[in-house]
Amino acid sequence: MQVAITDLLGRSLKDLRISVTDRCNFRCTYCMPAEIFGESYQFLPKDEILTFEEIARLARLFVSLGVNKLRITGGEPLLRTDLPNLVSMLSSIDPSLDLTLTTNAYLLPQQAVSLREAGLKRVTVSLDALDDEVFKQMNGRGFPVQRVLDGIEKAAEVGLTPIKINAVVQKGVNDHCVVDLARYFKEAGHIVRFIEYMDVGNRNGWKWDHVVSAAEIVESIGAELPLEPVDSNYAGEVANRYRYLDGSGEIGVIASVTKPFCGDCTRARLSTDGKLYTCLFASGGLDLRDAMRSGATDDELVERITGIWNRRADRYSEERTELAPLQNRRQKVEMYHIGG
Ligand code: GTP
Ligand code: 5AD
Ligand code: SF4
Ligand code: SF4
Repeated sequence: MQVAITDLLGRSLKDLRISVTDRCNFRCTYCMPAEIFGESYQFLPKDEILTFEEIARLARLFVSLGVNKLRITGGEPLLRTDLPNLVSMLSSIDPSLDLTLTTNAYLLPQQAVSLREAGLKRVTVSLDALDDEVFKQMNGRGFPVQRVLDGIEKAAEVGLTPIKINAVVQKGVNDHCVVDLARYFKEAGHIVRFIEYMDVGNRNGWKWDHVVSAAEIVESIGAELPLEPVDSNYAGEVANRYRYLDGSGEIGVIASVTKPFCGDCTRARLSTDGKLYTCLFASGGLDLRDAMRSGATDDELVERITGIWNRRADRYSEERTELAPLQNRRQKVEMYHIGG
């Protein structure tokens, strides 16, 4: 039986994002800067990471509470051994779930087929620039763009569609690359979503000056490739959609800084070590792993999840705007623990 639950602001729980590893093969400067995440950085030991059985058990309980979308994230989820096994366990909870994954695509050429066969429906690929020099600098490991494009092509070939491309835009870093990205994926038939650079985590040195607003992004693309706004696909969609006037596809912009969307936020995040975060900017999460490992029943877990969600009042991005000069002082969870 499905029981819908709501939080203190009347928001239901629809979307669970599951981080399956805190490791990544990239070192994006805004997420896992190489100076901090070097050779000796201690990632989570294996016994602290949720097993596939634990993840699937929790996912099933979340689905019973109204979740209809599962997004597998990381770190880089394709680094988790045997990921297709998890995909098939999640897919069997309910084949009508929107089951998707966010990846940097580096390992997608070799994994796309098995992920698709396991029941994954679509993928979202992070790619911030098509210019090799810019991309190599941003991914912190000198990886070329072509490898990511190969992954995208493979995903398209096996039907992991619609494919979305996420590009984080940083002023003075890759803002000169947005029109090229739009043009390339317009031709390729995939949807690019340009994301305003956010103050996630505590280590990327974020400043308001680094943000390029969604309005500026739409303006610069629209000047070369005329656009018009389109309605959302569903209530609470994070991206604002625009379509090309020539009918050849669409882009999205995610204005989480200039136009926060907390009012519609139905997302919960499960970290690699089994904590439930009710906001991308939360200081802490609530444990589900130790509860499971000390013998909690499904009913007890449901009660815990419901209790956490019922007390939820998070609206960090709206508060960022309201409290502009004061914010950014408190400790926040790092993006690679909960996958964005
Ligand atoms: P679709 O299911 O394809 O519509 O994707 P989505 O809306 O779930 O978007 P996705 O998971 O690709 O998120 C894109 C980016 O938007 C993330 O990487 C974050 O940068 C940002 N984002 C997503 N959810 C939130 C959120 O709840 N709060 C904030 N502030 N940003 C978010
Ligand atoms: N601001 C906006 N988006 C970010 N991402 C990672 N860090 C940030 C940030 N500071 C995005 C990545 C990826 C997803 C997991 O989160 O580009 O698409
Ligand atoms: Fe890895 Fe994604 Fe973070 Fe880049 S943004 S370091 S690809 S987890
Ligand atoms: Fe949801 Fe927190 Fe993002 Fe607001 S800032 S949209 S509450 S995750």
